[in-house]
Amino acid sequence: IDIIRRAFTAELIIPDFKEFKSIIDDLHRQIKANKSGTPASYIPQLARVNPDHWGISVCSIDGQRHCVGSTKIPFSIQSTCKPINYALAVSEMGGDEVHRYVGHEPSGESFNHIKLGHGNKPHNPMINAGAIMVVSLLKRKLKLADRFDSVQHSFRRLAGGEYVGFSNAIFLSERETADRNFALAYYMKENKCFPEDHFILHETMDFYFQLCSLEVTCESASVIAATLANGGICPTSGEQILDGTAVRNTLSLMHSCGMYDYSGEFAFKVGLPAKSGVSGIILLVIPNVAGICLWSPPLDKFGNSVRGINFCQELVKLFNFHHY
Ligand code: DON
Repeated sequence: IDIIRRAFTAELIIPDFKEFKSIIDDLHRQIKANKSGTPASYIPQLARVNPDHWGISVCSIDGQRHCVGSTKIPFSIQSTCKPINYALAVSEMGGDEVHRYVGHEPSGESFNHIKLGHGNKPHNPMINAGAIMVVSLLKRKLKLADRFDSVQHSFRRLAGGEYVGFSNAIFLSERETADRNFALAYYMKENKCFPEDHFILHETMDFYFQLCSLEVTCESASVIAATLANGGICPTSGEQILDGTAVRNTLSLMHSCGMYDYSGEFAFKVGLPAKSGVSGIILLVIPNVAGICLWSPPLDKFGNSVRGINFCQELVKLFNFHHY
């Protein structure tokens, strides 16, 4: 009802949505021709995905939706669970407590580099070491099954009840090819980085792989991005899921650390908070305007979706979304 009232009174954040949709469709068509990059190949489930999939889904903070291309096909969320896990941890225990164990600085190294930052903490929650740390904090008084249920349920609420599944095949493959992630966890354990109580390394690692193996579609993930754009209130359900501080912290870290070793250049050229994952997903947040999910499996040398990055760069040429 409210969206109809706002449409009639011209209060919608994207007033000419029809025009906006046709611009997005044009970009989709134009960028489809970009065939560079290769899908991740470290596990068979990612290597087998059709590289031609290319989806764009937009959800505005008013709940206006537009989807073009492969937007209903499930894929694993991978590293885009990292900002969400962090936001949930900050909502649960407060930013100060979370940052007793993880920093805020870009690492300047690859996402799985074995090195700690200031105060012997992992550099930030967007790289693997920091993400493993955050996962170890999430709902840590519960049993693993309940922790998983609780976090998956939160992802579903962030997506306004839309699709958030789980791929057991991806989970099993991730766990099998995780020598580096185990090395990171043991290195942090050796350095006494984890809180003392309740820490069981193999359980934490299973939880980390399980959350990377959550599945979304472009459509459902765009609602998650829109909830971040809307200060933690899901635009389609109206439910407040994250507190304002958690969202602000998360967007700040996505802005500085969300795009692997390309984060600085992305912040410079696009100027918006975003997070990528090896499945070819990019969550792009336009604060107070909209959330966008881009999905195209071929990756560039940094591990970011080629078409996704191409879209972000074109979008800010057409609209005044760059922060500065
Ligand atoms: O931890 C891993 O290697 C993957 N499951 C996460 C992959 C990913 O998207 C890379 N992240 N920064």
